[in-house]
Amino acid sequence: MECITNDDAGLSIAKKVASFKAVEDFIESGMRVGLGSGTTVVYAAQKLGELIKSGKLMDIKCVPSSYQAKQLIQNAGLRLTSLDESNLLDIYIDGADEVDSNSNLIKGGGGCLVQEKIVAYNSKRFIVIADYRKDSKVLGQNWNRGIPIEVIPVAITPVQIFLNGSIEGAGPAVLRMSHEIMGPARTENGNFIIDWHSSLLNKQDIHWNELYQRIKLLPGVVDIGLFLNMADIVYFGFPDGKVDIRKAISHKYDI
Ligand code: A5P
Repeated sequence: MECITNDDAGLSIAKKVASFKAVEDFIESGMRVGLGSGTTVVYAAQKLGELIKSGKLMDIKCVPSSYQAKQLIQNAGLRLTSLDESNLLDIYIDGADEVDSNSNLIKGGGGCLVQEKIVAYNSKRFIVIADYRKDSKVLGQNWNRGIPIEVIPVAITPVQIFLNGSIEGAGPAVLRMSHEIMGPARTENGNFIIDWHSSLLNKQDIHWNELYQRIKLLPGVVDIGLFLNMADIVYFGFPDGKVDIRKAISHKYDI
């Protein structure tokens, strides 16, 4: 099965090699696997499907983090499960919008951050697959679309006012608009997304954890696309087929 994406050839190779290697290194028969969203996980689903069809992997069940992930799982001939049935997954595998040198992530460019964080949190290991462009020293160095924050619609204005001016690191809190319909983009939960262009992005030594806690406590905020100290290992793919592997400081696995 060949994957179809809008990427140019070099970028597709970078995503593919990172995904294929991560699946080969980590996925074993009998595992329960969470699958993230985006263009890179397409290749992880493809590889999982190939290994199942060839009989090299058996008894794999997957939990999707979005409708797209559910379709990827089904199209690759993989079996679906849920956190109700399999409540602690062996592996979560997902892309990222940006990865800093401590393997902290910005996610939510595709609007699935809430489900992605739930599935990631309920997995023993979180493996990130990304192309070389996602590798940054600090958050906001290469990713210029802000920090996604999912907000219940009725709270959108107070949360925007707070992020625009009342908090350390204030900056434009932009309501994400839909490209398909007139009006704001909606998440699969029916909520809005703010892309927060914090003045702290692309700065050194920022304590994102403190800021995260403050924003998370605001009524109406569902979650924030900061994935702090969650990833165990990151696979960065390159157009020449090379893959760089970065273990997070807390990483406990021998790979
Ligand atoms: C979805 O909400 C995002 O968090 C994606 O996981 C992230 O945008 C990575 O997407 P790509 O693999 O398409 O870069």
